[in-house]
Order: sequence, then structure tokens, then C-alpha cells
Amino acid sequence: MTESLTVRDNRTGQEYDVPISEGAIKAKDIGAIKADDDSPGLAIYDPGFVNTASCRSAVTFIDGEKGILEYRGYPIEQLAESSTFLEVAYLLINGALPSKAEYEQWVHDITYHTFVHENVKSFMEGFRYDAHPMGMLMASVGALSTFYPEAGVIGDADNRMIQIIRMIAKMPTLGAWSFRNAQGKPFVYPDNELSYTANFLSMLFKMSESRYEADERLVKALDTLFILHADHEQNCSANAVRSVGSSQVDPYSAVAAGIGALYGPLHGGANEAVLRMLRRIGSKSEIPAFIEGVKNGNEKLMGFGHRVYKNYDPRAKIIKKACDDVFDVTGVNPLLEIAQELEKIALEDDYFVSRKLYPNVDFYSGLIYEAFQFPPEMFTVLFAIGRTPGWLAQWLELTQDKEQKIARPKQIYTGDRGLDFTPRDQRWA
Ligand code: CMC
Repeated sequence: MTESLTVRDNRTGQEYDVPISEGAIKAKDIGAIKADDDSPGLAIYDPGFVNTASCRSAVTFIDGEKGILEYRGYPIEQLAESSTFLEVAYLLINGALPSKAEYEQWVHDITYHTFVHENVKSFMEGFRYDAHPMGMLMASVGALSTFYPEAGVIGDADNRMIQIIRMIAKMPTLGAWSFRNAQGKPFVYPDNELSYTANFLSMLFKMSESRYEADERLVKALDTLFILHADHEQNCSANAVRSVGSSQVDPYSAVAAGIGALYGPLHGGANEAVLRMLRRIGSKSEIPAFIEGVKNGNEKLMGFGHRVYKNYDPRAKIIKKACDDVFDVTGVNPLLEIAQELEKIALEDDYFVSRKLYPNVDFYSGLIYEAFQFPPEMFTVLFAIGRTPGWLAQWLELTQDKEQKIARPKQIYTGDRGLDFTPRDQRWA
């Protein structure tokens, strides 16, 4: 039986049968509903795409009510426990787990492309000493499109893949250098003898030693954090990548747009905001007054709430465990106590319970990042490195999806019409 929706337009009395497929109706079918031949078709008003599917996707599955997150069908808990970030990246991009040979080739290819053109380095050295590393990352990823002009040939599968490999490979280099710029320290070149994540830590923290040896527990924890951030279906930045990518621009420009979206405090910038919030609260005794302020609408409890998860964020659970592993090495972050107490109080408060507001991935990730000695400005850069394979998997899917069109939402126009222009000398007289 074909499923359908019967819609009666009370303006005209006419009934329409709208087909339902995969739990959705097509906005185009609603557009066929008109008050009369001259009026525009019915539109759907949905700021923030709260209930609008913009694509069909086989990359990531989320059930927000049940707290389920799967990449290509694999639960996030299993991937975080047993996989590596590069294996997860392969999975997201290629749609299946790699064989041994495929994995080794993939790791080799990514490792081989970690270096950037020296001019990228000079470009990055041109930023002011206090430049926000996310601004630097966004600009330098965008700049890569000028180093690989062939990246614009997005119809060629081999060409797409080499750009994907380059971007995953170079993101830690660019991220680390944006950090070193703020520190006034020399940029450290990649060490291709190290793993992806160990090399990133080396480029961040190496000084005069011949090889930077990061603690393996920290490498594992950061690798897990990258896995947790690797994709999250049609979030704000993935949507930005897809929206910009739909113009058929090269993937560097599309991902630069994603980085811009991630920069914002309601998206990837939230963990930075959480840390600032915890520091401002300062002590457990100040929490009740802070919560009162949130309930009065003065501000948000950063790191709480999610558009999709209305029960719990499965990533937050895994991160709490990673917190313990990292603090075993670095010592406990004193803000942890405030965060735990804040979480406890909020989870018992009707304001948060009734709105289904729970800790999200960013509530605890900032505490871990701080334990690594990252300044808050770097947190979103770490998120961006982790999210890169997800953005690229979404972009790759877009480029091969015959149903996709250039993104161009409708509007409901609320402004004036048909005004007569009065020349300046008359208006200003
Ligand atoms: N603190 C206090 N109240 C909140 C919060 C919060 N963190 N989040 C939502 N609310 C309230 C909101 O004011 C609204 O209340 P009311 O119904 O009385 O107007 C209700 O809860 C529903 O919120 P919403 O704004 O309609 O929810 P949304 O789905 O549009 O927003 C969100 C989702 C993540 C932007 C929002 O929860 C938020 O701003 N949280 C804080 C920022 C944050 O932690 N962001 C990280 C998200 S996870 C990582 C990522 O995706 O980047």
C-alpha cells in the first residue's frame, strides 16, 4: 500500500493526496497546493530546519529520544572503545570498515600528506599574535583551495579522494600551527613516524627535544575525542558544508564554510563557553544563583541541551569516562567539581527536566582539553579536526546525489513593495 497524506485546503475546499515516502512528504508536493492559479504554491516555514529533511544520507544515524548515535551503522560506543580515529575516518568516507591492506594504505596516504606548502606557513605567520586559532584555521583551509586549483573538478572520483586525504592529513598541521602562532612559538613540522594523533600533539607541544613523546593515555583519549566528534549528521556545520558545496565549489571552500559554522558559540564554540562559564561561577556556593539566572532567562547553561538528543547525549557519557583517564595523567581539573555539582543540580531542576535539557558532548570536553593545557580558543579547533572526515563524507555524498540541487531556501517576504525612490537632495532637504 502506498502511504499518503490527505490535505484539505480550506481556502478552496480542494483535497490533495500527498505521497509519504521514508517517513517524509516532499515540499514540492505541498507547493502544488494553491489558493488560485495566480498565487504561489503553499510553502513550509521552518527556520532552523527543525522539521525539514534537506537530503537523504547513509552516513550517520541518530535517535535523539533513545540517545543512539551510529556511524555507517556502527554504535559510537563500540567505535570509541575499539577503533582509531583514522579507521573511523575511513569508515565515514568509504562506507565500510577497511581490510588490513586498505587500512594500512589509508594511514600511509594520510601520513604522507601531512605537510603543507611553505607558502601556507608564511600565510599563517602573517596573522596577528592574538588571532583566534579558529579564524586562522578557517582562512588557511580556504586558502588550500588556491594551492590545489584542480580541487574544483568535483566530478572526478580520484580527484575528490585526493583532496579528502589531503584535508584530513593537513588539518592537524594547520590546527597546531594556529596554536603555535598564539604562543609565539616556532611552527613544528609533522613527524610522520608518529601516529595521526601523536603527531598532532608533537606539532602542538614539541620544543627542543628531538622527538616529542606524548603519554599514550593522552594520545588515546584525544583520539577518542576525535572519534566522538567525527560526524553528527545534518548539524549546523555539516549543513553549511552541504549548502556551500551545493554550488559545486571545491571541498576546501566548502569545509572552510563548515569551520565558520562550527566557530559559533551555539555549535562547536560551546565547550569554550562552558569553560568560561565554569570559571565565572567560580565555586559551588555560587551555583544556585547562577541557575536562578539561567531560569530567569539571563543566560544559557552552556553545554546543556541539544536539538536532537532529548534524553541524553551518548557522546557525553563516553567523554565522562575519558575525563577520568586524562585526569589520571594530568591531575584533576578543579573546575570538574563545579561542573559535576552544576550537572547534579540542573538534572534535578524542573526547568531543565521539563525542557529535556541534558549535558551534551561539550559539557565535559572543555575540561579535558584544559587538562591537556589547551587554551579555550583551541577547543573548537580540536572539534574541527575531529569533524573533518564527517564534513567530507557529507560532501562526498552530496556530490554523488542526483537529487541534490543548489541550496536555495524560500522566504516569506515581510518588507515593503513598490516604493518610489526619492532622490537624496529631496530626502535630505
Ligand atoms: N540553558 C537554558 N535553557 C535552555 C538551554 C540551555 N543550555 N538550551 C535550551 N534551553 C531552553 C530554551 O530557552 C527553550 O526554553 P523555552 O521553551 O522556555 O523558550 C527550550 O529550552 C528549548 O530550547 P531551544 O532553543 O528551542 O532548543 P534548540 O534545539 O533550538 O537549541 C541548542 C539547541 C543546543 C542550540 C541549545 O540547547 C543551546 O543553546 N544550548 C547551549 C549551547 C550548547 O551547549 N551547544 C552545544 C550543542 S552540542 C555540540 C554541537 O552540536 O556543536
